[in-house]
This record gives sequence, C-alpha cells and structure tokens, in this order.
Amino acid sequence: RTFRIAAIPADGIGKEVVAAGRQVLDALAADSTGGTDAFALDWQEFDWGCEYYARTGKMMADDGLDQLKDFDAIYFGAVGWPTVPDDVSLWGLRLRICQNFDQWANVRPVHFLPGVISPLRKADDTELDWVVVRENSEGEYAGLGGRNLSGRGPGGEVAVQSSLFTEVGCERIIRFAFDLARTRTRRKVSSVTKSNAQQYGMVLWDDVFKRVAAEYPDVETESVLVDAMSAKFVLRPEDLSVVVASNLNADILSDLGSALAGSLGLAASANLNPERRFPSMFEPVHGSAPDIAGQGLANPIGAVGSAALMLEHFGLPDQAARLNKAIEKTTAAGVLTRDVGGSATTDEVTKTLIDALTP
Ligand code: NAI
Ligand code: MG
Repeated sequence: RTFRIAAIPADGIGKEVVAAGRQVLDALAADSTGGTDAFALDWQEFDWGCEYYARTGKMMADDGLDQLKDFDAIYFGAVGWPTVPDDVSLWGLRLRICQNFDQWANVRPVHFLPGVISPLRKADDTELDWVVVRENSEGEYAGLGGRNLSGRGPGGEVAVQSSLFTEVGCERIIRFAFDLARTRTRRKVSSVTKSNAQQYGMVLWDDVFKRVAAEYPDVETESVLVDAMSAKFVLRPEDLSVVVASNLNADILSDLGSALAGSLGLAASANLNPERRFPSMFEPVHGSAPDIAGQGLANPIGAVGSAALMLEHFGLPDQAARLNKAIEKTTAAGVLTRDVGGSATTDEVTKTLIDALTP
C-alpha cells in the first residue's frame, strides 16, 4: 500500500527532525518491499510556519485544511519562532489542524531507552513505560474568554480564560484510555484532575470516569489530583500504565514524563482522530527549540518515535516495532545527541538509526 503523507516541518528544529524522520521512514519503506506488510510513502511537503507568516501574514494557506484533508496522515515538526507571538503561531497552525480535524485524542508514550540516563536513576529504568492520554479538543485550551473585559484602561484590565468540559468530550477520551489499557500488560487507568479546586468541569470529568470505569471491571483504576500525580511520576512511576488527563494537565505531565525518561527530544506523540474522518497528525512532543536550531544538535528520536506511531495507525505494527527496535539499538550503542549526554549530531543519529533497521 502507498500512504500519502503531508509533511509540515514548520519552524526551528522541526525542519531538522522532520527531515531525519523522513529519511528513516523512506529507508524502512524501501526495505519493506516483498514482505506481507510492504508499504510505500508518497510525501508532499508544505512550507507553512513562521517564515510563511512573515511573507503572507498567515501561518498556513487559507485553504490549507482543504489541501490536507485527503492525506492519510500529517507528519509535523514544531511551530514557533521568536518573530511571531507564540499564541499566534500555535493557534494559526498546530491547533487549527488539531481542532478542525477533530484530533481529540493525543497519545504520548513515556518510554525509557537503554543507554539513556534518566534523572530517576532507578535500577530498572528501562522497565518503566507508561502512556499519557491527553484530551486534545477542549478543556483549558478551548480558547474561550477575552481580554479587557472591565473596559478600564491600562492597569485595570481584566481577562477571562475559561475551560470547557463536555460530557461527550470527557467520555470519549476516558473510554479511549480504557480501551488502550486493555491492550497493555498492566491494565490500569489513572485519571487526573484538580476537582477539589475546579468544581464544575473537573467534577463532571470525575463523574464520567466513575461511570465509564464500571464498564471495565477488568481494568484497575485510580483518581489522582494533578499535583499529587506530578509527585507520583517522580516517586512511584512503576505504578503507572495509562494516565488520562485534560488538555493542560496532560500537556504538563507529558513534558515531565519525557524529561524523566531523559529528554524532551525523545518523546513521541500522536494526535488522533479515532473515527478516521480526518487525517491524524504525528509529531514529537518538543517545540522548535530556537536555542539549538540550525546547529545539527536536535535529537531526532522523538520525531522517529512519532513515525512509529504513524505506522501503527496505518495498521503496520511490525514495521513500527522495527523502528522502535532501531531506536533502542541506537541509544544502547551510545549514539546520543547532546541533550542526552552524547556528542552525536542529528545526522549521525539518523544514519545509525537507518543502519539499525537491518538486523
Ligand atoms: P522546546 O521544546 O522547543 O525546548 C525546550 C528545551 O528542550 C530547549 O532547551 C531545547 O533546546 C530542548 N529540546 C527540545 N527538543 C529537543 C530536541 N529534539 N533535541 C534536543 N534538545 C531539545 O520548548 P520551548 O523552548 O518552550 O518553546 C520553543 C518554541 O516552540 C516556542 O515558540 C513554543 O511555542 C514552541 N512549541 C511548539 C510546540 C509544537 O509545535 N507542538 C510544542 C512546544 C513548544
Ligand atoms: Mg507541551
């Protein structure tokens, strides 16, 4: 099968890691011919992002969503550059795609790799493995509110930023988490809120969680407040399997998870439209990292891990496993970028990943 993929490298190291991910994927596809799960990739690259904004005043083409809607998937780098306010660049490209393509489930595995020293420094680090399921369509990032509501001048401004929680939105992401838990060795879902302080939306979430949990008696559950969960990530990570949380809370927890696994540069993610009415989007968790952009220092593993999630989404689990195996071989061999304590360049890691595809 040939899959059509829209590549949107966007800004900063997004360009470097998408280029790396494409090379690794193309090598894997070339090597898959003849097998039962042979696949080919047909790429189209889009130059949207902050440079496009400088030329056009837009983060993406006006009919951009229309141009994207028939692709099998979107492979995304990272958006954001100091020349454009971050809220403008994020809402103008990444959030616009996520929201319009109803990518309501954001899956972010926290995966510990051999050869990478985790700040947790547990003897059995590489046996730790959990996944953050992030509600990706509403919650704190619903975009509701406004500025200057008091009508008063400078010094007296009032802004409101509201969260939106719907029963449908809570139920579908919680159900997604339970279904995912059933595919894992440890069948457990931890639900995260701050429902002691946020008494409307998050109490609705808790209620829905209890109701859905009753339908999955084979899955262990817990409800944990977000502050306690951040401590638990550090102190009792072996107790985690699937962690489901609202948009903001899961955003923060997944960055914490990837830092605990060794670096933000290692973390992969999938923005899924589980109904498959629209393309899903696969991207590393990290941002555009202006501090290291253009220097060949970017860790491509988060982007390559995201490509593995894309192959799983395409129904190619064996090919995805080959990619993940190549990642483990590469880190175990000590071919590491600077963020994980090594001195290899993006290109060197990419070449090692490609070599590691063949046993
Ligand atoms: P960031 O993730 O870009 O960088 C945070 C730190 O981690 C930096 O020190 C960076 O050098 C390091 N880092 C990140 N990825 C790395 C990699 N692959 N290899 C090596 N080191 C890596 O987050 P920051 O600095 O908060 O944001 C920079 C820009 O990225 C902003 O414009 C922000 O809005 C945007 N952003 C975009 C995201 C997206 O497109 N999904 C997500 C997060 C931030
Ligand atoms: Mg984040």
